[in-house]
Amino acid sequence: MRLIHWAVAGFLGLAAADSNLTHGSKNILPSTFKPPQHFRNTNLVRNINLEKSYPRETINVVIENVDKQPQSEYYLPFEQDVISRIGGLEVKDKKDAAKPAFDVEIVALDQGSETEYYKITLPTPLANKEQLTLSITYFVLSALEPLPAQIQQNDKQYVLHKFSAYAPSAYTTSKQKTKLKLPTTDVPDATVLPAELNTEGKADPQKQGTTFTYGPYGELPAGAQEEVSVRYEFTKSLTHGTLLERDIEVSHWGGNVATEERHWLTNRAAKLKNHFSRVTFQQAQYFNPPSSALKEMRFPLAVGSVDAYFVDDIGNVSTSRFRTNEREANLELKPRYPLYGGWNYSFKTGWNADLKTVLRAIKGQSEQFVLRVPFVEGPRQAEGVEYERVVTRVILPEGASIIDFSTSVPLASNTTTLHRTFMDTVGRTTLNLVALNVVDEQRERDLIVTYTYPSSAKFRKPLTFAAGLMVVFALSWVIGNLDVSIGKKEKQKTV
Ligand SMILES: *[C@@H]1O[C@H](CO)[C@@H](O)[C@H](O)[C@H]1NC(C)=O
Ligand SMILES: *[C@@H]1O[C@H](CO)[C@@H](O)[C@H](O)[C@H]1NC(C)=O
Ligand SMILES: *[C@@H]1O[C@H](CO)[C@@H](O)[C@H](O)[C@H]1NC(C)=O
Ligand SMILES: *[C@@H]1O[C@H](CO)[C@@H](O)[C@H](O)[C@H]1NC(C)=O
Repeated sequence: MRLIHWAVAGFLGLAAADSNLTHGSKNILPSTFKPPQHFRNTNLVRNINLEKSYPRETINVVIENVDKQPQSEYYLPFEQDVISRIGGLEVKDKKDAAKPAFDVEIVALDQGSETEYYKITLPTPLANKEQLTLSITYFVLSALEPLPAQIQQNDKQYVLHKFSAYAPSAYTTSKQKTKLKLPTTDVPDATVLPAELNTEGKADPQKQGTTFTYGPYGELPAGAQEEVSVRYEFTKSLTHGTLLERDIEVSHWGGNVATEERHWLTNRAAKLKNHFSRVTFQQAQYFNPPSSALKEMRFPLAVGSVDAYFVDDIGNVSTSRFRTNEREANLELKPRYPLYGGWNYSFKTGWNADLKTVLRAIKGQSEQFVLRVPFVEGPRQAEGVEYERVVTRVILPEGASIIDFSTSVPLASNTTTLHRTFMDTVGRTTLNLVALNVVDEQRERDLIVTYTYPSSAKFRKPLTFAAGLMVVFALSWVIGNLDVSIGKKEKQKTV
């Protein structure tokens, strides 16, 4: 049944990203909106880490309230095209990282505005002249472009990353610099900016091994931009999930939690200039040079995971390995074919685990439970994996009702529905969560669901099953009796 559902979803191409979802949850402001100039960035250092297939940016900025009144709303601007590709944006107090992350929401402007904002709410308003150091981190998806766009099967791949040498800011910035961490020293191109812009009058960027630094720059107005680009070697796959659906099915009766993941992957790497050659591919297996093809995926699962399977559009894939023992549960999947640039691959995989490892009963509340599972699993790759859209469903037993849930992965939507399958009477309570722009680094993020499950409900399924059997039994008994009686009557007649 589930296989059919999955296949249908796959062929209907559910993979299209829903850009309306980001817009649905936004506050819409008039396009004339400009963030009030309550703050000044007195010093800003931005780090762009390019070691993976998705850039990870960290902006450490000292902000100062330049208004007379205490203020708590700090805006961070991005162009529309960029904000739709930003994931996992998190803001913390740099000097007190143990404090919880600040509240962040996207505010959109009416059509016609190119800029949208993240609104960051400080937990306590800053008084006039008071300062605070923010640490802002986020990922940018679909950011690297292979250049050249087509290569030979065993060629090195180069990628281009475009960005502004000035950090995004809705306020005047007194002083700033941007540091790049590159994966290699093979960097054929990097935009050179005029030394006059640089407050130290040095060549811009400064290069030191795999670190390039743009700036420092002096005072710049809100919204200042200076587009630059770097092109560097990155002979790895640019693995991009258009959609990942995850089902986590809890069974109290079976003492089991079953996870199933359905992946729709594409490789954003450079396309092959010529047709794929299996001979070249086989030859390359001996010396195993770096490749921009995705050849293998590693799923580090929770210890104790069992019964793993791997099925693609054609059927079971045998080129996979599952090692599970007391110390580890590692699932290694080899796609049916190496996934070169521009190629797609969809598959599903799943595994079971003992419910005890993820569920605990709340003390003193015999009917309340806390489930703790990863929000996202999927492969963890050295070069990274990014997902446009992750839909995680937690399917609870019939009769359960959700009290609360939480995850530190930013969500685009959450709903609760009833999921009905064979032999269900009322249907199972299902929590449906959608997150956009997720990366494999967020694998460690928990999803915690608290729910009630009355002990009477536990016997509903076996009772339904037993009742079903009784009906079948009774029917066959009635039919059997009828047959017999007709036969008897006929016999009586013939006698
Ligand atoms: C997005 O929303 C707008 C207005 O609500 C609607 O016109 C448009 O068809 C929607 N697009 C998609 C892809 O659902
Ligand atoms: C796929 O593998 C599972 C378990 O390994 C097996 O039960 C099933 O019959 C296989 N299906 C096909 C089509 O080979
Ligand atoms: C891969 O999937 C995308 C949509 O996710 C589609 O636009 C593209 O045409 C597909 N490419 C191939 C080679 O099938
Ligand atoms: C779930 O969605 C509702 C709106 O539909 C929202 O108010 C609530 O904050 C969301 N909860 C979480 C944990 O995201």
